[in-house]
Amino acid sequence: MTVAPTFPEAVAADPVFLADVRAGLSKPVKTLSPKYFYDAAGSELFEAITALPEYYPTRTEVGILDSRGPEIAALLPEEAALVEFGSGSTAKLRRLLRHLPDLAAYVPVDVSGEFLAAQAATLRQDFPGLPVEPVVADFTRPFALPEAIGMASRAGFFPGSTVGNFEPAEARTLLHRFGEILGPAALLILGVDLVKDTARLEAAYDDAAGVTAAFNMNLLKRINRELGGDFDLDAFRHRAVFNAEASRIEMHLVSQRDQTVRIGGDSFTFREGETIHTESSYKYTLESFRNLAATAGWQSVTAWTDPDALFSVHMLRRD
Ligand code: AVJ
Repeated sequence: MTVAPTFPEAVAADPVFLADVRAGLSKPVKTLSPKYFYDAAGSELFEAITALPEYYPTRTEVGILDSRGPEIAALLPEEAALVEFGSGSTAKLRRLLRHLPDLAAYVPVDVSGEFLAAQAATLRQDFPGLPVEPVVADFTRPFALPEAIGMASRAGFFPGSTVGNFEPAEARTLLHRFGEILGPAALLILGVDLVKDTARLEAAYDDAAGVTAAFNMNLLKRINRELGGDFDLDAFRHRAVFNAEASRIEMHLVSQRDQTVRIGGDSFTFREGETIHTESSYKYTLESFRNLAATAGWQSVTAWTDPDALFSVHMLRRD
């Protein structure tokens, strides 16, 4: 038997990641998808972002879920199955569960099977009466709900303003898909970040401690490590700007000089000041989000905000 030599540093290049990076950096306006932020280091940096003084969304949403938990519970049908799209750490779900003792099942949906299994195991320990039925799936694609939930009424949960990462037309498609997955008469509970003054928005995405800058730059580190890129990390800078016309925060990586970057067999040239657009985070008003949801087949039941109107939690019903 021949034993292949092992290279501890070598990570098998993901062909889809490589193709996406190639395509994004070949466009006249260079882009990289924010979904690639979340490797192990990026996920840790994001956790650190949620604790930053400038980053208000996470703590504000948790505050709304805590204070409105009883109202949310009262609006849900008895013995509903709760389906969380992109369940991540389940931290927010746990706040909600305290108010939902009679839930028929919790269905976390996530692409990472390993992570999902670990989360499901601890949830079963912490909530012994709650059937947990995880589904390994990409929630942006069609998937079937577990048969175990039977005819239970369905409610979707999509916190964190993740909907804001999608272009409005994509967000509409996504919300429509959620409706198809959940079925008729379903409810949907969503966290949506709100439009506010530019200084506050920009500070949330360009914090004084530089954590968001490190989060953005980690994308280049990841390309270097996983795809054999040679990005000079000192030759790019993080930038966050609010594009008021499009109502979105944009994160960019700005080239500090004319340069050429090699990735695998390809090279990409950058002019000084040229940017890679790495993320859009759309900000809505209560009304603009309700309008978007309506075009995807969802009617507003109600929406809650914090006293400073920084963030919103919507409850929608499929029509
Ligand atoms: C996880 C997409 C909601 O847009 O606020 C945080 C990601 N990017 N800081 C957001 C993010 C920079 C976050 N979402």
